[in-house]
Amino acid sequence: MMVTAEKNTTGFGHGKVILLGEHAVVYGHPALAAGIRAGVRAHVSSGSGNLSAPSWELDARIGDDSLPGQAVHSLCDALGVDGRTVDIWLESEVPAQAGLGSSAAMAVAVARAVGARTDANESAVLAAATAAEMVFHRMPSGIDAAAASRGRLGTFTKQGGWTDVALQGAFEVCIGVSGEPHDTGALVSGVAALRASSPVADKLIHAMGDLARAGTEALANGDVPALARLFDMAHGLLAGVGVSTPILDEMVHTARAAGALGAKLTGAGGGGAVIAIAGDHADEVLRKWRGKGYYGFVTTIGHD
Ligand code: MEV
Repeated sequence: MMVTAEKNTTGFGHGKVILLGEHAVVYGHPALAAGIRAGVRAHVSSGSGNLSAPSWELDARIGDDSLPGQAVHSLCDALGVDGRTVDIWLESEVPAQAGLGSSAAMAVAVARAVGARTDANESAVLAAATAAEMVFHRMPSGIDAAAASRGRLGTFTKQGGWTDVALQGAFEVCIGVSGEPHDTGALVSGVAALRASSPVADKLIHAMGDLARAGTEALANGDVPALARLFDMAHGLLAGVGVSTPILDEMVHTARAAGALGAKLTGAGGGGAVIAIAGDHADEVLRKWRGKGYYGFVTTIGHD
């Protein structure tokens, strides 16, 4: 493997939203997700192991005790690069720990930028990003890294990986950020413990996978309102396995009261973000969230 010592390289990874199937995807069920336009850009130059991301107030060293330091160390190792020989600077449009895939976006961005120094191919880049995700989340399904690298709508299973979903036209979703940070690994472990102790919980998880299948079918028929109704059902199931919070519930109810056709938490829950399909009421949803102190934005699903 050739390392081009003096090359300055960059790489980009998309943030993501999970439309349906989070948590269920960990157990082999399908999920429906999309990479969003907002993401993370990594700049890599020859250096001495500095890792910084001003917008996340991250100032670490590759291989130090911090999670990002450890994650990037694993990633560099996977690509055959000594992390002490590079400096990495990250620009992020994705808030950290918000359920929008910031860690996977970072992992893909850094893996692409470091991989460009060694001419690594996309599968080596994805494997390196997954090594970083293992540090962040202990048992990731791989959906976040796949969405971060594809940057578009698709379905994902652990066994089969990512499949792009083609849409006729695009639709908008409102994303609301709760401001409650969360720990994806801890939430996944909590659901695993519940599932191990309760066969009923496993049925709920199974039903989440069914909703993801139904959502994929709704989109194949161009039926966005049907997808929105599935969001409402999914939020109930996610609350049932204990990953919603009073704030996420409030944001979901606020979106519905403002005219959204459907709303749910997105990602691991326990804080993080919610997603709503609001059609003509998107401005009203954002305004109502803002009125309660929550930041929100609109992003397009189905762009290429
Ligand atoms: C996190 O974005 C999605 C989860 O399903 C965890 C995973 O799939 O790795 C909660």
